Amino acid sequence: MIRSVKGTRDILPPSSAIWNHVEEQARRVFRAYNYQEIRTPIFEETLVFARGVGEDTDIVTKEMYTFQDRDGASLTLRPECTASVIRAYIEHRLDQQPGLVKLYYMGPMFRRERPQKGRYRQFYQIGAEAIGSESPAVDAEVIELTAEILCAAGLANFELLLNSVGCPACRPQFTSALRDALQDVSKRLCSDCRRRAQTNPLRVLDCKVEADQPVIETLPSILDYLCEACRIHFLKVQEYLRDRAIPFQIRPRLVRGLDYYRRTTFEIVHGALGAQNAVAGGGRYDGLAETLGSKVPAPGIGFSIGEDRLVLALEETQSGGHAPAVDLFIAPLGEAAFRQVAPLARTLRRRGLVVELAPEARLKRALELAHKFGARYALIVGDEELAAGRYALRDMGSGQQRPVAPEELYESVKANVPHA
Ligand code: HAM
Repeated sequence: MIRSVKGTRDILPPSSAIWNHVEEQARRVFRAYNYQEIRTPIFEETLVFARGVGEDTDIVTKEMYTFQDRDGASLTLRPECTASVIRAYIEHRLDQQPGLVKLYYMGPMFRRERPQKGRYRQFYQIGAEAIGSESPAVDAEVIELTAEILCAAGLANFELLLNSVGCPACRPQFTSALRDALQDVSKRLCSDCRRRAQTNPLRVLDCKVEADQPVIETLPSILDYLCEACRIHFLKVQEYLRDRAIPFQIRPRLVRGLDYYRRTTFEIVHGALGAQNAVAGGGRYDGLAETLGSKVPAPGIGFSIGEDRLVLALEETQSGGHAPAVDLFIAPLGEAAFRQVAPLARTLRRRGLVVELAPEARLKRALELAHKFGARYALIVGDEELAAGRYALRDMGSGQQRPVAPEELYESVKANVPHA
């Protein structure tokens, strides 16, 4: 048997209905916050991510699907979308548009991680980027937007973790203090951390190895090293979140696994997810555009929700409700009835009803099928009904049946189905 590749999945019904629900809600909320959709290619020149995400990150060193094209170019399946969005922003001179450029995306990303619950090699993100301002007001709105989408999707009880990772003016002092502190303790850390202590000490704070945590707890906190401008920025973000009654916890070790962050970083975690508990992550990336070759600065902040994890958390915390039920199951009992009701089925579908037209001509079997589909009503059309010009509308809940003229059918069904 040919199976899907390790770390990839088929998203099947009824789960796909939850995915649709999540995406519909996200689009609705994005619209309300005046974000517009961008669709970037699934693959880019490797440079976009190597430079954008950072040469020494786990993503770039270990997790990218990179291949050589036939002409020798090095291409990479996108491991995330922020670098792609900024590449597009520069390429299309979006800086010349008035005001903030507010873009959202949804789609697959690819990272060659070790698959486990909530961690896949092809996974899906719903994300957004607000580009063109350094103001902490934008940080607060972007964080609010992340939370609003999660709420609209139906997620409750998530926690917002917040930090500032400083800027090029203050981070070097912190990095050097960290390096000093690591000299004494790095031999008690995992082999990855011993390497990171040399190459990119900030990454040590991001280590997920359980045994390393007590040592990491003793390392210096970046919040003690923020410059005045970063400190004020961070305080303002907190103030604006409090104004909006958005609860948060400050986590000085939240540096996140991508190198482009400056100042604000945040993550949203949920208890139902187990080890891979981050349902969304984001932060500010002033300077990323310059790293990708832009002459003009493009300070920005954004987030990505892990859609797989959001759906997982919804499935674990909610009981059904998303499977789309059939409004009307039409059971024509024979060829003449079938030919009569087929155009009627199309008319009702055009008006927004969910209609199943059965290919089955036996009444008992058709009603069983109607039950399995969770149909609200069944319409039975046999020779008698055809002759009378009135069809039998059966309420599948009560089992009661009454004759209805074809032209009254839409109103009769619509009155009793939730969505129409
Ligand atoms: P990230 O933290 O790498 O950030 O990913 C964001 C979210 O994507 C994670 O919190 C998680 O829910 C989901 N995710 C990541 N890797 C996997 C995986 N292997 N399987 C399933 N879900 C996964 C970013 O990607 C940044 N681009 C976020 C951002 C946008 N920062 C600024 N703008």
